[in-house]
Amino acid sequence: MIPNAYRSLHCNAIRAEHTGQNVTLCGWVNSARDHGGVIFIDLRDREGLTQVVFRPEENSEVAAQSHHLRDEDVLQITGRVERRLAGTENARLPTGEVEVVATELTILNKADVLPFQLDRELSNEDLRMKYRYLDLRRERMNKNIRQRHKITNAARNFLDGEGFVEVETPILSNPTPEGARDFLVPARLSPGKFFALPQAPQQYKQLLMVAGLERYFQIARCFRDEDLRADRQPEFTQIDIEASFVGQEDIIRLVEGLLAAMFKAGQGVDIPLPFPRMTYREAMDRYGSDKPDTRFGLEITDMADVFAASEFKIFRATLENGGVVRAINAKGFAGITTGQMIRLNELAIQAGMKVKQLAFIKVERDANGVLEYKSPLWKFFGEAEKAALIEKLGVEENDIVFFYAGTWDEACNILGRVRLEIASMQQLTKDSTALNFLWVVDFPLLAFSPEDQGWVAVHHPFTRPKSEDVPLLDAGEYAKVRAEAYDVVLNGYELGGGSIRIHESDLQAKMFGVLGVTPEEQELKFSHILEAFKFGAPPHGGLALGLDRIAMLVAGEESIREVIAFPKNNKACDLMTDSPTTVDFKQLRELYVQSTWKEKKKDETAGA
Ligand code: AMO
Repeated sequence: MIPNAYRSLHCNAIRAEHTGQNVTLCGWVNSARDHGGVIFIDLRDREGLTQVVFRPEENSEVAAQSHHLRDEDVLQITGRVERRLAGTENARLPTGEVEVVATELTILNKADVLPFQLDRELSNEDLRMKYRYLDLRRERMNKNIRQRHKITNAARNFLDGEGFVEVETPILSNPTPEGARDFLVPARLSPGKFFALPQAPQQYKQLLMVAGLERYFQIARCFRDEDLRADRQPEFTQIDIEASFVGQEDIIRLVEGLLAAMFKAGQGVDIPLPFPRMTYREAMDRYGSDKPDTRFGLEITDMADVFAASEFKIFRATLENGGVVRAINAKGFAGITTGQMIRLNELAIQAGMKVKQLAFIKVERDANGVLEYKSPLWKFFGEAEKAALIEKLGVEENDIVFFYAGTWDEACNILGRVRLEIASMQQLTKDSTALNFLWVVDFPLLAFSPEDQGWVAVHHPFTRPKSEDVPLLDAGEYAKVRAEAYDVVLNGYELGGGSIRIHESDLQAKMFGVLGVTPEEQELKFSHILEAFKFGAPPHGGLALGLDRIAMLVAGEESIREVIAFPKNNKACDLMTDSPTTVDFKQLRELYVQSTWKEKKKDETAGA
């Protein structure tokens, strides 16, 4: 590194072998202690801590000054490295064998009393966000931000090594349909028109393939106006990748290598390759999710064969009408509390359950030691189906089995949600260090949206149908068409998604047609891409990884806010800069924008 004029070493560098040397350090007062008139401070910079002692016999003026030091004052200190007295070493600090006896002190800046202490975890997230620049001084946040840099760097190096070229694409752009709402920016020079911030650089990266770049990547900022969750932010970062003359296998192998390089850089672990693969159908059937957490079992079991001729009418009728009856055996969870049961039912209702309660069977011994099957349903089952059920689900003492009867979609959603909640209640992943990567493949291309009363793209409209399924597309059998699409999942999080693309203008136009985009709209919104595909577009495909999610999992955090320097809070606001903010009328007028917000508020007040 280039020598620094302010300091000779950082605060985590001094060891016993430096004894006797003069050093200059810079940093913040992490803590100050008065030991019988002699001041000791721990001086902190981003690398760590060094103990500094101010002895009056060394420099009485400096020692006198040291009495006025406060936490978080910024100092420059020159002094001599000495070994600490025997018995006063601190084995927890790498610099714990030594201390610096200060001979010079410059107070570079004083600090007011901080709004919170930096050495304690703070549950008030709003306060952390308001003073994020202080929050980031904490060791944990410093580690997270720097680890994120390491994995980003590893990704860049890996992709560079594979011949990928980093290209920046516009932030002021046109809408790209990725399934969320757009953030819009009024265009002053084109009155009445708006830019959309990119939900992803999808169209640009495909156009770079038409441009002959062959291998593109970008650490790309993306913007989506959607409901926030612990793993979602309105602005986030993708490692966005696209390549020409590739198939699904090429992208999968590339991304496995990339993730291995990132986890090696971040955690020092070698993740085993290749990752297991699972079809979308299997993931939904067994885990009720297209991003299954496979660190625990609790799999969903199809009970059609057990209940096909059931004496319990609701189950039999559901099956006769083309529905499913599915179950989860939560082993050893018969002791579920009433509160937990209420919570499970609430979640199931949120996930679409039509009835008030999940059907269940609890297996416990009564006072006489007899095994009891406690359930409102048990009496309706015939002896043969009871035996088949016990056998199929491996039911034992202390188990509780949950059932859902309904449509396949409902059963997946509801039992998938219930499965995760039971795992959390049973703390099945507590202390687990497993990294269960997997690929989910063979996604459906399209899904019917009851709200839109039409077909929507499961990934996005540029995703290629599997060649063998194109006749199904032509025949209007949309639900059966599979996509050349793949998602990479880790421990229940979707890390990334991608696909092989449509590169033919007519197939792309057909796809837009299926999605209900009229020829006029296609011309208006997508003519650039439809036209580009007519000028020799190569076959191409790619994927985008969520960098924030990867950084979160590498850091062992539970929210991406912990690995983003300046995230938004759960209302999509930045409390530090107080944005979003109001703008004055003049600014809006310049943009030819009229706000109806005040009128809306007035109407609401009048109506109330
Ligand atoms: P997709 O929409 O699946 O694909 O996004 C790719 C990955 O980006 C991450 N991600 C998010 N991370 C944080 N906050 C969000 N709001 C958010 N939304 C998505 C996820 C996700 O897997 N253009 C396609 C990729 C392609 O086809 O190549 C796309 O954006 O980790």
